[in-house]
Amino acid sequence: MAEKDNKIYLTTPIYYVNSKPHIGHAYATLAVDVLTRYYRELGREVFFLTGTDEHGAKIFEAALKADKRPQDFCDEISVLFKTAWQNLNIDYSYFIRTTDNNHEEKVAEFLNILKGNGYLYEGEYTGKYCVGCEKFVTEKDLVDGKCPDHKCEPQDVSETNWFFKLRQLLPKIQELIEGDKILIRPEKAKREVLGVIKQGLDDISISRKSVSWGIKLPWEESQTVYVWVDALLNYWTVLQNLGKTEFWPADLHLVGRDILKFHCIMWPALLLAYYGEDAIGQLPKQIFCHGYFTVDGQKMSKTIGNVVDPNDLIEKYGVDATRYLLLTQFPFGNDGDVSLSRLDEKYNSDLASGLGNLASRIIALALRAGPEVAIARLGHKGQEFLDDVKKKYKENLDNLEFSKALENVWQLISFCDKYIDRKKPWEREESDHVISNLLILLTEIAGMLVPFLPETSKLIFKQLGIKDFNKEFSILIIEKGDSLFPRLS
Ligand code: MSP
Repeated sequence: MAEKDNKIYLTTPIYYVNSKPHIGHAYATLAVDVLTRYYRELGREVFFLTGTDEHGAKIFEAALKADKRPQDFCDEISVLFKTAWQNLNIDYSYFIRTTDNNHEEKVAEFLNILKGNGYLYEGEYTGKYCVGCEKFVTEKDLVDGKCPDHKCEPQDVSETNWFFKLRQLLPKIQELIEGDKILIRPEKAKREVLGVIKQGLDDISISRKSVSWGIKLPWEESQTVYVWVDALLNYWTVLQNLGKTEFWPADLHLVGRDILKFHCIMWPALLLAYYGEDAIGQLPKQIFCHGYFTVDGQKMSKTIGNVVDPNDLIEKYGVDATRYLLLTQFPFGNDGDVSLSRLDEKYNSDLASGLGNLASRIIALALRAGPEVAIARLGHKGQEFLDDVKKKYKENLDNLEFSKALENVWQLISFCDKYIDRKKPWEREESDHVISNLLILLTEIAGMLVPFLPETSKLIFKQLGIKDFNKEFSILIIEKGDSLFPRLS
């Protein structure tokens, strides 16, 4: 495999199409979009993969319930994800659907190699299966006999399956995780995974006899590939199919905590079995587990009726404001709550009165001096403050601390507000350097917002007459524009 040079490979989970996209899905996709835009600004070549997970019993049952053929059902829901991402201004490189023919072919190819390498054997599975989780469960996973996440009793399954020799790979995986060769973050996620490995795990079934909606096992067509194997392989099949293997392996898989173990244990195990147990250069470099959120204190659920559609937020607040509101609810690696009633307040305080008001104040001040404004260097104190904020912003983004990186930008915004209030440039004859300082800082703010609020940044640059932010400028031609974030009443 070629050296990766400047290339970065980032992924979101692929989303089940049993229901339409909600803000939980939007959260992860948005986070990877921000990282993608950030690294692209830094001149890195990023491959950003997202998509939909379309096989298995859960999807089959959802299609039956909707009275649709499974493929038609998947086609309909998958489009909803694509549309939501378009509305949220997500700039992915590729959208995979696990029902794509070329994905199915590559999955079959991968499993043939695993069989050839001696990692698969036929066996009898007798146990319980939770369709909601799409996984085999044991008594200790259940509360009062039910899956605590899906509140239903698992199915009793007894069938002949093909098994994967996961157990023999566990010591290797443990060593790789302990040595951060596969970096799992935050630390509590790493501890959780290591705890599970240390407890011991059995070999897993990689095929199902009783599930018809799936990829057929190439050597035994009466069985379908276990949906999690099919799904995890998407990260591999896409690059193979597009001839983009120079991006391999993944630099970051972003996941929620419910799917952490699949990514940290099963996925590296499959790759070790395929590439050989010494091929650690083929494994994901980092798996980051983001927080899970509730809405107004409750788990999002169709029954409660509190599932938030990202499109509704976009309609109410606009795209960039929705991006801002979603990423500022709580620190990225923590769980938290989204309070819908507080979103208006946050919009008004941070965006309308904060960023929007500052931009229009600075533009108005600059226009008093004329549309053409000469820009000098930033004063010493201002420069020091700016350098410090930018350093923290970079550290935070490199650590996926999105809300903190945004706080850094807002520190700059409040610095400017205070600076204007103190200097009162409208009362002074000689205020050119004040205006010049403010214009420089506004440019920096817009630059730092490029990954987060791309359209807002463009509008600010337009009002400042800046075509290329990365080029030096000594004169700006200011243009009045519309308010960036009109106040909500
Ligand atoms: N299809 C699997 C993933 C396969 S990846 C090879 C799946 N899909 S999912 O649609 O159920 O969930 C996708 C992601 O959305 C998971 O990472 C999950 O944690 C995340 N979220 C779902 N609800 C969420 C919240 N309420 N909050 C934050 N993230 C949430 O699992």
